[in-house]
Amino acid sequence: MAAIKDQLLVPIAETLPSAGNKITVVGIGQVGMACAFSILTQNVSNDVCLIDVCADKLKGEMMDLQHGSNFLRNPKISAGTDYSLTAGSRICIVTAGVRQKEGESRLSLVQRNADILKGIIPQLVEFSPDTILLMVSNPVDVMTYVAWKLSGLPKNRVIGSGTNLDSSRFRFLMSQRLGVAPTSCHGWIIGEHGDSSVPVWSGVNIAGVRLRELNSEIGTNHDDEHWNELHAQVVSSAYEVIKLKGYTSWAIGLSIAALASDILRNTNKVAAVSTSVMGEHGIEKDVFLSLPCVLNSNGVTSIVKQILTQSETEQLRKSADLMAEVQAGIKFN
Ligand SMILES: NC(=O)c1ccc[n+]([C@@H]2O[C@H](COP(=O)([O-])OP(=O)(O)OC[C@H]3O[C@@H](n4cnc5c(N)ncnc54)[C@H](O)[C@@H]3O)[C@@H](O)[C@H]2O)c1
Repeated sequence: MAAIKDQLLVPIAETLPSAGNKITVVGIGQVGMACAFSILTQNVSNDVCLIDVCADKLKGEMMDLQHGSNFLRNPKISAGTDYSLTAGSRICIVTAGVRQKEGESRLSLVQRNADILKGIIPQLVEFSPDTILLMVSNPVDVMTYVAWKLSGLPKNRVIGSGTNLDSSRFRFLMSQRLGVAPTSCHGWIIGEHGDSSVPVWSGVNIAGVRLRELNSEIGTNHDDEHWNELHAQVVSSAYEVIKLKGYTSWAIGLSIAALASDILRNTNKVAAVSTSVMGEHGIEKDVFLSLPCVLNSNGVTSIVKQILTQSETEQLRKSADLMAEVQAGIKFN
């Protein structure tokens, strides 16, 4: 007797392997799974591929997500250690690597994570030559530079999650002080994702009302309201969350899902992401740092020329010097 499937269905044509919005996530630790979960639950993509070195964990995570298919939008979820599974990915998100231990800085992870990328990036590009790399592994600005070097891709298609998360943290803290929704609190953190990040106090505003016009000392040490504590909290918040729960995951997962959505949907949204900044704000080093960028299906296609104060520009250049110093010590072979 013919199989039920053959009795039920009349084949008319081949099905296609992907809907064209495939996203690969490399590294399925706390961050990678938060990215995958946000992408699936927000229907950013319905074709998600998970890659790691841990075969059992991959299978477990894949099955667990697949069992939720009825509550998603019928996604295709694949997983394995073989990079051929990633073929045809529009975006590859890289979260593989070691994370900070309590009190450890992001920069201390450099060579360990650079070595890990050597085994990942060339394989991703081999199977998806048109992909956009979205880097998350820390220190993310340096790892974005390393991924660009290893990939041979044009700079617009190698992007770091950068200070998109720091800016979100900043806007949340502003919202707490003012009682205004985070999405209505406008403020940008640029530069390094981490200890030398730069808050652009000169542009912080609500509905176009610049807070610096209400308090000319905002963000400085002379401000009675101590607004500069907000930036200090942004810098310390990852350390605090790691101390409290061991890692950070949900906010970075949501931030990555938002960036992936802008890329796949070709939105031209402006987000603070890590990009090549040579030539911007007088920086003459080949480093990646966050600036407000226009994001779409070709990656980063423009950088917004922010009007910075002299002090903000100096801080940004200092970040660039630090990145260049760290990069100079990386062994590529
Ligand atoms: N950019 C950001 O804003 C941001 C935020 C949070 C964390 N991070 C960084 O993300 C990275 C991951 O953090 P986590 O908490 O998920 O760590 P984790 O230890 O939970 O997971 C790391 C995963 O990477 C995998 N891995 C290791 N080597 C690999 C390889 N060669 N190929 C494939 N997979 C490999 C591990 O098996 C593990 O599953 C860290 O570097 C962390 O600092 C970045």
